[in-house]
Amino acid sequence: MSAWQPTEDEERVAEFREAVLAHYWAHGRDLPWRRTDDPYAILVSEVMLQQTQVARVVGKYEESLRAFPTVDALASAPLGDVLKVWSGLGYNRRAKALHEAAKAIVARHGGRVPSSYQELRALPGVGHATAAQVLAFAFGVAVPYLETNIRAALIHWFFPEADSVPDSALMPLVEATLDADDPRTWYYALMDYGAALKRAVPNPSRRSAHHGRQAPFVGSAREARGAALRVLAERDAASGAEIARASGIGVERIREALVALEREGLVAREGTRWRLPR
Ligand code: ADE
Repeated sequence: MSAWQPTEDEERVAEFREAVLAHYWAHGRDLPWRRTDDPYAILVSEVMLQQTQVARVVGKYEESLRAFPTVDALASAPLGDVLKVWSGLGYNRRAKALHEAAKAIVARHGGRVPSSYQELRALPGVGHATAAQVLAFAFGVAVPYLETNIRAALIHWFFPEADSVPDSALMPLVEATLDADDPRTWYYALMDYGAALKRAVPNPSRRSAHHGRQAPFVGSAREARGAALRVLAERDAASGAEIARASGIGVERIREALVALEREGLVAREGTRWRLPR
């Protein structure tokens, strides 16, 4: 990795900002969570976007806000109803965490999403990046963070030859390029630029030291868990064998998935049958 020279770097930062913003004015994405400044809606969107691509989130985000338009509506809904809406997005633990976050926001903050970093981080399912995103997009507060598209953009520009670039090398660049007056526009532009790059060149975030490629889905526990929850979202209760038949996944894999889901509080047992939690 080449050393970072202040003056050259300042120029490079200015060029980068220009390229990112020019791309945004020409090709910026109009996404539903970008049209609101409701902190709750933004929190919902960012939890959904944690491990799921934009195209798959759009419909679920809209469905979720129709079903649970406010923090209070989400907090007072049965978890099973939240899981029904979430079904198909995957990584369903996030739905439970978001539901618990809504309850915590009601209990601790009178139903208003907090605007401090510490209080956001204290919510279930809210890590550094999600807290920073809520601060930037709902409250206009600039906190540096990294996610996959931002890594792609910065690695492509500032580390064209390097392999295994650590986040510790990228964070100073996030800070140097960040627009403290309008972090919302800047981060949208930066994420759109990174997402476009991934389609145009071999994904630069593969050269991140922190790039985790998703394991194959077919045959995975993730697949069996998603399938079991999808079947249970459509009926009151079902046996393991019924779920296996309806999903086309082997009964052993389904049973394993159900036991793990039960441990996490995502399904409940009722005699010999399974159902979503109430
Ligand atoms: N576009 C792509 N990822 C996004 C995110 N996490 N938040 C807002 N807009 C996005």
